[in-house]
Amino acid sequence: MGSGVHRSYCHVYAAAIVVLLILSCISLASSETLFHDHNKSSRRCDLYQGSWVYDESYPLYDSSACPNIRKEFDCKKYGRPDDLYLSYRWQPNRCDLPRFDGQDFLRRLKGKTIMFVGDSVSLNHMQSLLCLLQAAVPNSNIIRQSNATFSSVIFQDYGVSVMLMTSQYLVDIEVENNGRVLKLDSIKNGDIWKDIDVLVFNTWLWWYRRGPKQLWDYIEYDNETVKDMDRMVAFRRALTTWGKWVDSEVDPTKTTVFFQGISPSHYHGEDWNEPGVTNCGMEKLPVNGSKYPSGLPAVSYVLQDVLSSIKKPVHLLNITTLSQLRKDAHPSSYNGFKGMDCTHWCIAGLPDTWNQLLYAELLNNCTERKKTKEDEKVGI
Ligand SMILES: *[C@@H]1O[C@H](CO)[C@@H](O)[C@H](O)[C@H]1NC(C)=O
Ligand SMILES: *[C@@H]1O[C@H](CO)[C@@H](O)[C@H](O)[C@H]1NC(C)=O
Ligand SMILES: *[C@@H]1O[C@H](CO)[C@@H](O)[C@H](O)[C@H]1NC(C)=O
Ligand SMILES: *[C@@H]1O[C@H](CO)[C@@H](O)[C@H](O)[C@H]1NC(C)=O
Ligand SMILES: *[C@@H]1O[C@H](CO)[C@@H](O)[C@H](O)[C@H]1NC(C)=O
Ligand SMILES: *[C@@H]1O[C@H](CO)[C@@H](O)[C@H](O)[C@H]1NC(C)=O
Repeated sequence: MGSGVHRSYCHVYAAAIVVLLILSCISLASSETLFHDHNKSSRRCDLYQGSWVYDESYPLYDSSACPNIRKEFDCKKYGRPDDLYLSYRWQPNRCDLPRFDGQDFLRRLKGKTIMFVGDSVSLNHMQSLLCLLQAAVPNSNIIRQSNATFSSVIFQDYGVSVMLMTSQYLVDIEVENNGRVLKLDSIKNGDIWKDIDVLVFNTWLWWYRRGPKQLWDYIEYDNETVKDMDRMVAFRRALTTWGKWVDSEVDPTKTTVFFQGISPSHYHGEDWNEPGVTNCGMEKLPVNGSKYPSGLPAVSYVLQDVLSSIKKPVHLLNITTLSQLRKDAHPSSYNGFKGMDCTHWCIAGLPDTWNQLLYAELLNNCTERKKTKEDEKVGI
């Protein structure tokens, strides 16, 4: 994606810096990106290191004007009285995130398909994107389609499809004689994913679930079937299978692949220095600063490890720490089923920032990075 933002920094930075950028793009799984950096001597900017600042110009849209928000996420509609949580902006330490521009997003993705693949956190993410886009083009023609596995929203005037494919584990579950088998070595949905232009994967929420919330009866790997196994080991194997799928099937000149970092929940107050607190019900403010007291969840290191073994480019949408800081951003009891939910996120709210980050990453589409006229002017 050629971009105005690219061009503006290309004016400013010298050849060596752009070469550095290209090198940093080539190194896989690097989350570092050069973007509106206001420290000219430091050059590289990590979008994911920063803190939350109060900004009255947020939220980016009015959730009451966004159609079809699921009852799980529509906090205002279900009575959330406080508003501060809507007006925090993510401020990276050494650069600025571009403000989300929905029209620009649609123009850049013209004729393309973006698909979220994963559990209900993916649904949360996608619904925020739809609100952001619909707020930007309120009168455009939209077609909605859905069935048990897919839902899609097509912005007809731009030819852009935003799709969701529910897949709690990414790998397959197949019904066999003995029951439902979670196949850690098998990904059959890959044939559908291959044709998509932008893929955003996520899985984690369901790996430790047991009882009625466990969607399988057996696990299969290496042609062996077991009743259960260490869930983290299972997660790692499945993710490794997914990584192999990326390496063998994705055409990086067509498809840009993102993996969403672990989305944290807030049920253990000791994680944010409030021991004894057992949910997010009273939380009205983010954690101050850039460090979350309990650090990254253990699974992040597994994710990081597997992603680093993938040879093709996969962009980590590293939302974990910035989301951990947002203990105030969950629906808590303000949702349409009246349970306490400190796992999902209010819309409007935190997932809007995930989409701002996605937008920033897409603007900086590393695989597409080509010489621009401005590059030539500075002699590249
Ligand atoms: C800019 O970045 C450099 C290198 O990381 C650092 O030493 C310097 O203090 C930074 N300057 C400002 C103004 O933040
Ligand atoms: C994700 O971001 C956090 C916060 O900046 C950082 O601590 C962590 O190392 C990052 N993870 C990866 C894989 O870059
Ligand atoms: C759901 O819709 C998709 C895309 O329109 C289609 O390919 C798929 O076969 C449908 N699945 C079912 C179960 O109807
Ligand atoms: C499982 O068995 C099939 C057929 O017996 C074989 O082709 C395949 O390589 C085996 N897979 C693994 C992971 O051992
Ligand atoms: C947040 O932390 C910063 C330094 O990390 C400090 O200057 C500021 O006063 C703190 N704000 C609040 C509200 O605690
Ligand atoms: C990223 O760049 C590639 C290579 O030029 C291009 O084919 C692809 O469509 C771009 N991705 C997006 C989302 O525009």
